[in-house]
Amino acid sequence: MESKRVATLTLDDGRSVELPILSGTLGAEVLDIRNLTKLGMFTYDPAFFVTASCTSKITFIDGDAGLLYYRGYPIEQLAEHSDFLEVSYLLLNGELPNAAQAGSFKDNVTHHTMVHDQMARFFSGFRRDAHPMAVMVGVVGALSAFYHDSLDINDPQHREISAMRMLAKVPTIAAMAHKYYTGAPFMYPKNKFSYAENLMYMMFATPAEDYEPKPVLVRALDRILILHADHEQNASTSTVRLAGSSGANPFACIASGIAALWGPAHGGANEAALKMLEEIGDISRVPEYVQGVKDKKYRLMGFGHRVYKNMDPRAAVMRKTCYEVLTELKLENHKLFELAMELERVALSDSYFIEHKLYPNVDFYSGIVLRALGIPVNMFTVIFAVARTIGWISQWNEMMVDHDHKIGRPRQLYVGAARRDYVPISKR
Ligand code: CMC
Repeated sequence: MESKRVATLTLDDGRSVELPILSGTLGAEVLDIRNLTKLGMFTYDPAFFVTASCTSKITFIDGDAGLLYYRGYPIEQLAEHSDFLEVSYLLLNGELPNAAQAGSFKDNVTHHTMVHDQMARFFSGFRRDAHPMAVMVGVVGALSAFYHDSLDINDPQHREISAMRMLAKVPTIAAMAHKYYTGAPFMYPKNKFSYAENLMYMMFATPAEDYEPKPVLVRALDRILILHADHEQNASTSTVRLAGSSGANPFACIASGIAALWGPAHGGANEAALKMLEEIGDISRVPEYVQGVKDKKYRLMGFGHRVYKNMDPRAAVMRKTCYEVLTELKLENHKLFELAMELERVALSDSYFIEHKLYPNVDFYSGIVLRALGIPVNMFTVIFAVARTIGWISQWNEMMVDHDHKIGRPRQLYVGAARRDYVPISKR
């Protein structure tokens, strides 16, 4: 981190302070405001519009240009040529693996996919109709109650074991949440399968029949996992870092990330986008629905992004995958897809969306692909959580070895009552 320049802030009372201007490898310069404490002042930036909360070497986004890199590699190249486990290795370790490293990483993940058998009983405490995300928050957090032997966050080996456990076991828990909801028996993982194949197998196979996942669909799911694997300091990742900054164990931190992801403004958007398409129901209703968005009655789910003010590069890849999957399944004339294409066309040519720089985001298309794969709507955000787990772990790990890291503690601008004296209830 270089600081070749400084900004000088001078107050109207003449006091001044120098603020170093930091440059990273890529992206905007960042003002280091820590010297403001010398003036006894804080900054005010609700929702962190212009605040960098940490340094990171993992993911880079240029929202104006529509760029997304994992460890420097463009997302389009990874989606085209890599697979989810290789991307996971990259995010976690910083470099692409060689053949031996890739082999042992895959082997390691594959041999940790089963969960403690007692966890199966844990599920029966939930109502049968519990939302799978509610189950995920609880059961992933409960991993810390089952795997005490890897909870020393200051021990690099413990951190590595916990990371592998989460990467391997979160898909198993996700599939169990789905099976529990549908009343079907849990399926144990099968080590012959790839990561995405295994997830499909555990969700869709039953003990009664043979099941072989279709390669095109496996590839599409793998791509969804790659595209959602990390996205720098978003709401859920920041939640994981903040929880982790207090020294909480990694399983608890990831559970907090899952909770933050659930909201419709974040990971819940794929579910919300599909429900919106179903609510619109027919192409003829698109203009009326878009008018409602412009009248601010509701938002167009799957559109807009805090950082991308251009096409979300993940959306471009997902759109292509969407065509591939629907063509393979002979669903290209599917009503929902036609509706989505019309909504996209109308929105992209409408002045409201152009002026507000609202483009389709990854969740607009991933919902359609997930639906085509046969994944039920209430599992959409769960799939996002499975994918993002490696991003959360990588970011948590990075924070743990950052010598600058301290407990996260934002300040506030207090606007409540000034000091006042207690009034007895008889006099109120
Ligand atoms: N539909 C209609 N108007 C919108 C939308 C939308 N989807 N998103 C933003 N706007 C408008 C908003 O009304 C406001 O207009 P005005 O300035 O006239 O009052 C302006 O754009 C700025 O909105 P904002 O809420 O201040 O923007 P933000 O950066 O805080 O919000 C967002 C980002 C993603 C929460 C928002 O765009 C949104 O709610 N989108 C729909 C939900 C969605 O698809 N979320 C998934 C994001 S991608 C997956 C992920 O990373 O989790």
